[in-house]
Amino acid sequence: MTTLGTPLAPHATKVMLLGSGELGKEVMIALQRLGVETIAVDRYDHAPGQQVAHHARTITMSDPAQLQALIEQERPDLVVPEIEAIATPMLEQLEAAGTVRVIPTARAARLTMDREGIRRLAAETLGLPTSPYQFCDSLAELQAAIDGGIGYPCIVKPVMSSSGKGQSRINGPADVRAAWDYAMAGGRVSHGRIIVEGFIDFDYEITLLTVRAKGASGAVETQFCEPIGHLQVSGDYVESWQPHSMHPAALQRARDISKAVTDNLGLGLDGQSTGLGIFGVELFIKGDQVWFSEVSPRPHDTGLVTLCTQVQSEFELHARAILGLPVNTALRSPGASAVIYGGVDAQGIVFDGVADALRVPNSDLRLFGKPESFVKRRMGVALAFATTVEEARNNAKLVASRVKPRAA
Ligand SMILES: Nc1ncnc2c1ncn2[C@@H]1O[C@H](COP(=O)(O)OP(=O)(O)OP(=O)(O)O)[C@@H](O)[C@H]1O
Ligand SMILES: [Mg+2]
Repeated sequence: MTTLGTPLAPHATKVMLLGSGELGKEVMIALQRLGVETIAVDRYDHAPGQQVAHHARTITMSDPAQLQALIEQERPDLVVPEIEAIATPMLEQLEAAGTVRVIPTARAARLTMDREGIRRLAAETLGLPTSPYQFCDSLAELQAAIDGGIGYPCIVKPVMSSSGKGQSRINGPADVRAAWDYAMAGGRVSHGRIIVEGFIDFDYEITLLTVRAKGASGAVETQFCEPIGHLQVSGDYVESWQPHSMHPAALQRARDISKAVTDNLGLGLDGQSTGLGIFGVELFIKGDQVWFSEVSPRPHDTGLVTLCTQVQSEFELHARAILGLPVNTALRSPGASAVIYGGVDAQGIVFDGVADALRVPNSDLRLFGKPESFVKRRMGVALAFATTVEEARNNAKLVASRVKPRAA
């Protein structure tokens, strides 16, 4: 697709985002700058991306009938999943019928919608190094998996969950039942299946943003951004920075793993390598050993840092790649991001201290505009660039600490 249209005109280039949170909002802004007509879909009204799109639609995206009806009514050129909880078999059906193109592919959306599809693909089909793991449907199966080789410590996660929800670490036999109960309460869809993974004692973890975009010849080419380091607390990202310096051998392994996974996820239904867009490949590193953890076939939350570090942010890279345009993954400056949590459970909160926060040198801020705040809901992100990652991290944290959300 190298011809772009005019929004709201008969030949508009139309893109529908399934999920319109803070990441989708930035993708939408990047698309709008290229004159694309945008349709923001979410499960609740006034989601961040809906506030900047041409059209806002609120549906239950995990309901195949609602999803089909909306896509057939809007007829977008591209459907871009931004979340995991979508009726992906319906997307595969619509893609196979030629009704729509899904980014990167409907198959990739299905394989990454829960932990099982992507883990089995990476470890069993592609033979990539991962933590030892087993899938379990009961407390008894969990105990048997641990005793049968996973051992302690290990980590239990609901098969369908993100941002660390329902995830906990088991240090010994006394923790097993609590971890099972916690996973059952925290999973997105309560079908009672979990993954138990052996604990990897890594030195650090990174996100390797990997972009599949069309080259001059029209063939899909793979490019990598500089590695993003990040800090997770209870399975949720709180800080990220770029670049994270790596031993050259580890970096090469990380790229090889990312290429293998994204090559596979880029395969269309016809087996052709047609899938376009950005992927966030999560990797654990110890010395020059690298383990694959998981992958988002879309912008990654830790990649918010690229809003202040790269020539083109991960959102601009995604927008360009999916439209068939060339991309530039170059780093502009070292930088960092720090998450701003709501800190309160309330509707329509206000933020004090924003001016003070932005007096920190070379800083920036995104407030996502979420209508409802929770204590641990991500409501904004602080950004800072500097000559060193260390200085950028300190400044980003300082910016975040000066922003004070409170009930209105
Ligand atoms: N096997 C493991 N060994 C050691 N640490 C782990 C393991 N699995 C997960 N973690 C830690 O927990 C974090 C969250 O795990 P994971 O990415 O699987 O969960 P998630 O809910 O998908 O999180 P997110 O949606 O934020 O990416 C990882 O980034 C890592 O810090
Ligand atoms: Mg993760």
